[in-house]
Order: sequence, then structure tokens, then C-alpha cells
Amino acid sequence: MPFEAQRPCQTFMIATAAVSILTIGGCFSDEAMSQQREPAPSKAEKRSSKVDHRESMADTKKKGFDGVDFSYDLFGAPSGQDTAKIAEQAKAKDMAEKPGVMAKQKQLLAERYKLQCRALPAVTMTNGKSQPIGPVTQLKNGLTWDKLGGLDAEEIKSKNLFPAGFQRLPHVKHEVGGMVFPSMQIKQFPRLERFDVEFDLPECFLPEFPPPIFLTTHPELGDVSQGEVLDAENFDRLFRGLVTPVQLDGLRLLVTQFPQEEFNATLDRKSAKPSLGVSCLDCHVNFHSTGQIHLNPDTRPQSDRFRLDTTSLRGLFNQQIHGSKRSLRSVEDFSEFEQRTAYFNGDPIRAMKKGINMIDRLQVAHMAQMQNMIDFPPAPKLDPMTGRLNRKQASEQEMQGEDLFFGKAGCGRCHQPPAYTDQMMHDLKLERFGAEADGPIKTFVLRGIKDSPPYLHDGRLLTLEDTVEFFNLIGGTQLTEAEKHSLTAFLRAL
Ligand code: HEC
Ligand code: HEC
Repeated sequence: MPFEAQRPCQTFMIATAAVSILTIGGCFSDEAMSQQREPAPSKAEKRSSKVDHRESMADTKKKGFDGVDFSYDLFGAPSGQDTAKIAEQAKAKDMAEKPGVMAKQKQLLAERYKLQCRALPAVTMTNGKSQPIGPVTQLKNGLTWDKLGGLDAEEIKSKNLFPAGFQRLPHVKHEVGGMVFPSMQIKQFPRLERFDVEFDLPECFLPEFPPPIFLTTHPELGDVSQGEVLDAENFDRLFRGLVTPVQLDGLRLLVTQFPQEEFNATLDRKSAKPSLGVSCLDCHVNFHSTGQIHLNPDTRPQSDRFRLDTTSLRGLFNQQIHGSKRSLRSVEDFSEFEQRTAYFNGDPIRAMKKGINMIDRLQVAHMAQMQNMIDFPPAPKLDPMTGRLNRKQASEQEMQGEDLFFGKAGCGRCHQPPAYTDQMMHDLKLERFGAEADGPIKTFVLRGIKDSPPYLHDGRLLTLEDTVEFFNLIGGTQLTEAEKHSLTAFLRAL
């Protein structure tokens, strides 16, 4: 019976959805209806409900949304607070703390490295930027590299002699983490600036900006970047006609900004203005890297997460596992999950709050296909049939370096041609020397390695010389000074 009575009214509500609130009022004031439900409101109650409806928009917003719309639960703030004001206060605090954060990191770096930019004529990256020359890692207690290399792990550990620069490099603001972009990039793309931190390493220890791009489909063209940074504005002009429609669509997605923890449209962000987000190629600039950092999404607690230095996407087609820890098995999976996990620190709840963009599998395939077309830079001294040095073209020193690489230094056990990886993860067990244990990490490729400082997953090794000292020490290979130079010369030829 009551159901029957409501019917005409409900039909009316559907037809006039826009004025449904008024309609509800109209229906419930009907004498017969209200008897079925609850007593009619008194005149005073009617007045007060009218007052509620006339509340100002600002008052309504202030009421808060807890338990209903979690996208407004800013910093876990209790309901009834002014979210804009809380965000302002958080920003002011971040900005006030920034000089201290940067000074602390500067001191940490000074304790680890002699941060001088050294270069050698003709020792350049692919497009001509000087490669940084080391070693720049500071040694403890007046040790020399030679003396340190002669000590065993037990002694190094007990006397605390493992160089600080060989240990984990923390994020500039580790307790917060997130994506941080180097200043040369921010100059061109001010939208990538954060108000709470800046990038910490000098530009001489970073890759070329912009890096060259090599397509597997057009080896004859060489660098197809035309000296530009691929972005949403120029990708079509630069790549239309060079790649297929599917690849071009993949590229479009790779240069499209997607919301991310620090760069998004909510008040809970680290950019001064609301942001559409970060594109894949904001970090993997021109499919390479220019040193952008982040924290890995795979580890907890926060203090144990790794700083990650953006990896190059060159030669991805030749790699079976992806990510330093995640060991994902396809470029498709990585492309999909980079956004779902890395963009939001492995936290799907925060991702939803800040507007995660779910990419469907077809688009993922397009993105992967584009990434798989990116080649390593040319290595004219390598023999195409073996991936090893062409002995007619290489120098004496490079050839000695190659012999060491596959012989005494033992590098070739894990770094096998043609990409110079074994597609495995290895645990280097740095805890033997008193450092923190990193566990198994992907054997990163060494093809084109001269273009990718700084080295290791967190960029703790700033030059190839430092890398050679590092592996010489942990491998206990006791290379001589001259042998180390040769090994470095070989790495530069890869
Ligand atoms: C912080 C900037 C940053 C952004 C933005 C970013 N990446 Fe990455 N990317 C990284 C870092 C750092 C790694 C290394 C991850 C690791 O070691 O676990 C990586 C690794 C990868 C890898 C695996 C490389 C390998 O073989 O190990 C792929 C593929 C990749 N990213 C694709 C993407 C795609 C697709 C996007 C956009 C959805 C994207 N990335 C956005 C920083 C970034
Ligand atoms: C037991 C396997 C193994 C051996 C032997 C080995 N490496 Fe590695 N190499 C790795 C792993 C694993 C990583 C990644 C470690 C990390 O990021 O923490 C790596 C990383 C590197 C990197 C940095 C790559 C990058 O993209 O940052 C360089 C350079 C390198 N190795 C050179 C050498 C040299 C030179 C030798 C010989 C003296 C050597 N490796 C011996 C496994 C090995």
C-alpha cells in the first residue's frame, strides 16, 4: 500500500532529476504519506532545515568528508578542517626545512666523494659531453686504493674501512622520497620543480641532456632526436613518418603526463601549482635517463627503500627481466606497473586518491612496442658477430681491458655479450664488508655504459673508475693500477 502511494511521486522524480530535492520535499509534505513514515516536522524544524540548505559553499566544504570521499582526507586530517590551510601550512614547513635538507645532503656527499668535475679530452659520451673521470670516492684513514684492495672483507668490516661512497646513497629527502628532477631539466620544464627538495649531484656526473635516440628500425639515420627533448608538443613532428601508427600512439602515451604522488592536481603534492603529472619520458628522457631519482616501491619500511637512479630504456628488447628488484618479465608488465606502483610508491590507495590513470592492455602494448624499438648507441669497436672487441680496431689498452674483463677481473661471468648482462639477479653481499645488505639485484647491461653515469641502482658510483674500484674490491681481484685503467678503457668502448 505505501509502495503504491509513492509510485506517481517517484516517477515524477526520475523525470525531473534536476529538481529532485524539491520533489522529495513536495512528496513528503503530503499528509497521507508522512503518516506512513514519521511525524510531520514542526514549523521550527522546517525553518532550520531551510537554513541548512542555504549554507554557503565555503561552510559546506569545511564540513569535511571523512568516511565518504577519501580523496579529501588530506594528510589524514580529521574532518572539519580547512584542507587548503593545512596544505599551505605543510608547504610552508617544507620550504622552511628545504635549506636544512639540502645542507645535510651536501655534507653527506662531501663525506663520500671529492665532488670535482674532471674530464679528459676525447673521452666523451655519444653526443660529445665529457665523461666524468674518477675515482671520486673518498677513502678512510688515509688508505690508498691499492692498500684497501689488499685487505680481506673481515678486516674491512671490523675496522670499518669500507668507503662510505660504496654504501647505499640515500635520497635527498629519504623520509619523503619521490621523484626529483635535475636542474638542467627543470630549467626547460619548470613544471618538474618541487618546493621541498632539489637534485643533489653536480651535472658533470649525469648523462647528456638531451640524450641521442637510436631506432632499431633506422640504424642508418643515427641520432633521430634532432637535439630536442621528446615531449607532448614535439613528438608528432619528430617521429611521424619514422615509426608506425601503433608506435606513434605508444609514444604519445609515453609523453603524456599522468598523476603521481608528488605531481598531481590535489592539494597533497610537492609542486607549487597543481600538476597534470609526470610522463614516462620525463624520467626516461629520450628513452634514456638524465639522472632523475625516486625511491623503489618494493621495500619497506621507508628507511630501507632504495634510492633509484632512472635506468636507460635503450636495448630493452634484449632484456628478459626488468627492474632492480621486481624482476618483471616483460616490457608490457613494467609499463603497466610503473604507473600503478612506482608512481604511487606501491600504494594503490594513495594512487586512487590522487587520480591514477589506468592504462588498458592495448595501450600498454603500444607503449611497449615503441620502447622496444630503441637501440643502444653505436659501439664501432665491437665485432657484430661476437659482441666482443674487433681486435683490428681496438687499442692495446682496450684489448688488455677485455682480457681482464673476461679473465682475471671476472666481470664476464655476469656481464655477457651482446648486451653485457646474464639476464639474472645477483646478490653482491656487501654486508661482508660491513655495508647494508642490498640482496639480489638485476645485472644491469653494460652496452653503452659510458652514457649512463652515475652507476649502480642508486647511482652511488659516480664514474666508471669508481665502478672498477668497487668491483675490484668486492671481487677481491687485486688489479694493478695499469690493469684498472685498461678495464675502464674497455668499458668505455662498449
Ligand atoms: C622517477 C622517474 C620515472 C618515471 C616517471 C618512469 N620511470 Fe621507468 N624507471 C625508473 C627507474 C628508477 C627505473 C628502475 C626501476 C628499478 O630499478 O626497479 C625504471 C625502470 C623502467 C623499466 C625497466 C627497465 C629495466 O629493464 O630494468 C621500464 C620498462 C620502464 N621504467 C618504463 C617506464 C614507463 C612505461 C613509464 C611511464 C608509465 C616510466 N617508466 C616512468 C624511473 C622512472
Ligand atoms: C656476480 C655477478 C657480477 C660480476 C662478477 C660483476 N658484476 Fe657488474 N653488476 C652486477 C650486478 C648485480 C649489478 C647491479 C648492482 C646494483 O645496482 O646494485 C652490476 C652493475 C655493474 C655496473 C653498473 C651498471 C649500471 O647501469 O649502473 C657496472 C659498470 C659494472 N657492474 C661493471 C662490472 C665490472 C667492471 C665487473 C668486473 C670487475 C663486474 N661488473 C663484475 C653483477 C656482477
